[in-house]
Amino acid sequence: MSYIEAHELAPWTEAEVQAHLAAGKLVEGLRHMSPKYLEGMRRILTVSADTELVSAPSYLLAAQHAPALNNFGSAMSIIQDELAHAHIGYRLLGDLGVDMDELIYERPAKQFKYPYAFDVPLNSWVELVCANALYDQAGFVLLSDVYQSSTFGPWKRALAKVDKEETFHLRHGRTWLKKLTKDPDGTAEVQRAVDWMFILTLEWFGLPDELKKHSEQLDYGFKGKTNDELRQAWMTAVVPFMDEIGIEVPAHYDAEAGSYVIDCPFPARFDEEKREWLLDGGPIGWDDVLARWRARGPMNQTYVRTLQRGYQTTSLRRAA
Ligand SMILES: [Fe+2]
Ligand SMILES: [Fe+2]
Repeated sequence: MSYIEAHELAPWTEAEVQAHLAAGKLVEGLRHMSPKYLEGMRRILTVSADTELVSAPSYLLAAQHAPALNNFGSAMSIIQDELAHAHIGYRLLGDLGVDMDELIYERPAKQFKYPYAFDVPLNSWVELVCANALYDQAGFVLLSDVYQSSTFGPWKRALAKVDKEETFHLRHGRTWLKKLTKDPDGTAEVQRAVDWMFILTLEWFGLPDELKKHSEQLDYGFKGKTNDELRQAWMTAVVPFMDEIGIEVPAHYDAEAGSYVIDCPFPARFDEEKREWLLDGGPIGWDDVLARWRARGPMNQTYVRTLQRGYQTTSLRRAA
């Protein structure tokens, strides 16, 4: 979407939007937006909807390893929630003048905007429940912040439901991890998964604050916390739980600093085929991380193809 299109759709000036927000009012649609607000809201909604959408094929791949039919049922119910969350985001983008069919079904896989972590396959039931405990926790931290801070009314209200469902997903993960870590084999398998997934989730929160580009996300109250604050909030939830179940993670609480400290080189190089962090090489620059994200990872094409296949192989289209 070009700036000119945004300019035609969003009639307000920056000053009008700021005055509206300063009066404690929410933005309820295009009529309350400036082109800058619209561009920023489209960007954050696209990231959110893409993340929800791609979690479906990612979790589906792992769900086939469910130990029993009722466990498969739990996984399917989580996947169904994620598709509904994606639908909320895309539907709002439709209201903001975006062509939803093009966005969901015709966009090249590489242009999807979800976190790189989902490009790495989940190959077992243990990896699925670890993803619930780590990735869904990240989703919960991010969306709770949007829920509390967002100035876009329709999204804010929809997130009340999303928040509750994400709580169910991460509890599903935690319940399973508690059960699995009761015996040494289970603990070893969880540890192997957490070893690569923990650092991928740290990355999820993006560039550190001093390098962050999109400041309108905070200026406009799209979100309340900075990337580093969100990363801290995630560690505050995850690290004590991992300690409790005897799983080691490369982060600890520094009482003097009053915050969590990452104990390994970060960001670091990642071998996506072996799913291993090459920590001996020391930390790398965020430019290298951005290059890996931009190239996308091993499952990107497969997952997007799964999501787009039905649209491309039938003459039926979404009902008008
Ligand atoms: Fe979700
Ligand atoms: Fe979720």
